[in-house]
Amino acid sequence: MPGSRPILSPDEIDRLDFADRVLHSTCDLTEVWRHLRTHEPVRRQSPRDGLAGYWMLTAHRDVSAVYRDTTHFTSERGNVLDALRGGGDSAGRRMLSLTDGVRHGEVRQILTKTFSRRGLEVLGVRIRAMARELIGQALERGTCDFATDVAKEIPLAAICDLLGVPPRDRERIFALTSTMVASETPVLTPADAWRAKNEVLYYFAHLSEGRRTAPADDIVTLLTSARVNGSGLTDDEIVFNCYSLILGGGETTRMAIGGAVLAFLDHPDQWQAWQRGEVTVETAVDEVLRWTTPSMHMARTVVRDVTVGGTDLRAGDIVTLWNVSANRDERVFERPDDFRLSRHPNKHVTLGGGSHFCLGSHLARLEIGAVLESLRDLVTDLEPAGEPARIYSNFLGGVCSVPVVLKGR
Ligand code: HEM
Repeated sequence: MPGSRPILSPDEIDRLDFADRVLHSTCDLTEVWRHLRTHEPVRRQSPRDGLAGYWMLTAHRDVSAVYRDTTHFTSERGNVLDALRGGGDSAGRRMLSLTDGVRHGEVRQILTKTFSRRGLEVLGVRIRAMARELIGQALERGTCDFATDVAKEIPLAAICDLLGVPPRDRERIFALTSTMVASETPVLTPADAWRAKNEVLYYFAHLSEGRRTAPADDIVTLLTSARVNGSGLTDDEIVFNCYSLILGGGETTRMAIGGAVLAFLDHPDQWQAWQRGEVTVETAVDEVLRWTTPSMHMARTVVRDVTVGGTDLRAGDIVTLWNVSANRDERVFERPDDFRLSRHPNKHVTLGGGSHFCLGSHLARLEIGAVLESLRDLVTDLEPAGEPARIYSNFLGGVCSVPVVLKGR
């Protein structure tokens, strides 16, 4: 199987550092997650290297419940482990995903229409055309790196079109966003990620300033001109939300698309079923989302003492929700370790849940669906052409390189 990794045994759990970016990239944790959600679904990780301890939730039941519980948990101090252990996210209450309560609803409302099925219809036509074109070009070459030639390009173009980032700036934006939460090498210093993040924030500060005097039909203009109860968004809200959209819109979907092709290489029976038209695009996209789980975890902070899965959590505690484990929970999914495109129902938590449920869910589905359909319509043979490469992160999971040989109809 291309890209298979050593399977870690549950005996090793006590020595594992789940915050370690290299662990998730280089090891298969399937058995570790199974053990945890069966025997210790709410596990305490002790403080380590001077950083705070945290709870790990691995069962689907608990992960789903916490996504929906805004009474006992908040996102406002951060929603990923590194930010919370680093003392909290500086974008708290200035970015949609890190805002709770009334303000969250107000800011989300500004963006809802753009990201609705209807709002994405025109962009959808362009995305489908782009998927066909990129896969057509790959077919002409015969060999391609699906992760860089296709999976990277479509989400980047789509979110840049929506935000109003001009084509000349897109490669630079990609280079920055792809180093903010993950990297292609094991070495990424917090300073590198910090620099990249600040450059992106500076870029959007500049872009939004320009849109105030020269409005355009894009999200940056939408955010700069929006009014809530008679007031505009603050400069920080505008810039941090652009940052969040470029990151959320580009990186996660890139991982899902690259991961879909890797899954086809590993499961030729599913590739054939897809090619023969035995499966609908809706169930196929959901299974790709479940199987790839690009956001491996999300996190919250306890604001009021609460009991989860029989364990008491205290106000101030950091809680991590491991989507990667919840999506393989045998109490919810039949034969969870099978990649099965016809799976239905498919109650994965890949896109979160509750009030912070992914704003870009239609866009993500549209992009993944467009690639799957183009593969089905244009490609007959799909073979590995080398070893895939995984990114290094404790948050984002997936592949940054999937070399393949493609043959067409
Ligand atoms: C929220 C995953 C695609 C924008 C979320 C959350 C998850 C998630 C797990 C919940 C965060 C939390 O509860 O703290 C994914 C995955 C994607 C994807 C796996 C692709 C496969 C997109 C796209 C966009 C986007 C294409 C578009 C711009 C957002 C935003 C939020 C969000 C703005 C915050 C929503 C809120 O707090 O109300 N996403 N996402 N995502 N996502 Fe996505």
